[in-house]
Amino acid sequence: MQKRFFLHAIALATVAFTATATLAQDNTFKIGLILPMTGQQATTGRQIEAAARLYMAQNGDTVAGKKIQLIVKDDTSLPDATRRLAQELVVNDKVNVLAGFGITPSALATAPIATQSKTPMVVMAAATSSITQASPYIVRTSFTLPQASVALADWAPKNGIKKVVTLVSDYGPGIDAEKYFKERLIFNGGQVTEALRVPLRGPDFAPFLQKVRDAKPDALFVFVPSGAGAAVMKQFAERGLDKAGIKLIGTGDVTDDDQLNDMGDVAVGVVTSHHYSAAHPSAMNKKFVEAFSKANKGLRPNFMAVGGYDGMRVIYEALKTSKGQGGGDALLAGMKGQIFESPRGKMFIDAQTRDVVQDIYLRKVEKKDGQLYNVEFDVIKDVKDPGKAK
Ligand code: DHB
Repeated sequence: MQKRFFLHAIALATVAFTATATLAQDNTFKIGLILPMTGQQATTGRQIEAAARLYMAQNGDTVAGKKIQLIVKDDTSLPDATRRLAQELVVNDKVNVLAGFGITPSALATAPIATQSKTPMVVMAAATSSITQASPYIVRTSFTLPQASVALADWAPKNGIKKVVTLVSDYGPGIDAEKYFKERLIFNGGQVTEALRVPLRGPDFAPFLQKVRDAKPDALFVFVPSGAGAAVMKQFAERGLDKAGIKLIGTGDVTDDDQLNDMGDVAVGVVTSHHYSAAHPSAMNKKFVEAFSKANKGLRPNFMAVGGYDGMRVIYEALKTSKGQGGGDALLAGMKGQIFESPRGKMFIDAQTRDVVQDIYLRKVEKKDGQLYNVEFDVIKDVKDPGKAK
């Protein structure tokens, strides 16, 4: 009798244990965050991971009854690694969402996995226009290079800049920046006298900048990915381009808030166009910058951080709308059409394109209390990616 009771108790305990285990699994919502945490793009990974963790700290880690689990993987910005990690996250970890993607090749390499597994893929950094067309499961919270470049090509000719040399990193976003800046500048009566491209990996800007100095344009337009701006700025000064009266302009990637403060006086006066500045004067942004800095030893958030923070918002809210139920398609539906206030300003996930619609600002680097900031002086409201119209 006693033995039977004992066995019964074990059986019950086993059932209870299995039920708890299943419940635990069903109640977990996994986000696979693939980022470059080491190598050339490491600052992108550091910024996005910090922002994602801040979002979770501020908004809790339980949403619609699910416990959020963030699984961070380092792809060292090599697209083969991104794809392999995405595959493992989907097959082994059974993640509900893939997120991150520091550079365009990483996002493009992962797109087929998102499609085949019907896993929503939130692109928080990469910014080539065509990315959202690579899979119907991609949603973007960063920006696009056409979006940022066109605004500057409208501003330049009205401000005495007619002859421009362009200098871009030779891959997706750089080619987008070059093309959309040039087309719009020509439309506005300006001209691009030379279009220079530098390699993405280990670029040496010096010989290119020497060429620009000899060509003496009114301005040099630059796109380099986050993390490379300081090297451009240093070489620009060392080659004496500023002294030769050549203006430096570009998308805000070149005056990246992650590095700006250490760039020195050569950066003062540089005009860029972008979707986010740590100096954006809204109450929400002030709170964001303060909390981010406090949680990360004084680090200033850059546009990558804001892409990560808003990406988490998009995931959390989609999970709420789908009430924690349903698979990738239900989540995706909850991501489309979200409209909300971000630290960057108002933003919108276009339900048709799954791409971000947002304000683009013109900014000038200014020194305030000894610190360098991208100070916004004009805004173009609700800019859709011009790349989608073609
Ligand atoms: C991309 C990467 C960047 O670091 C950036 O600032 C813009 C675009 C990209 O690879 O898409």
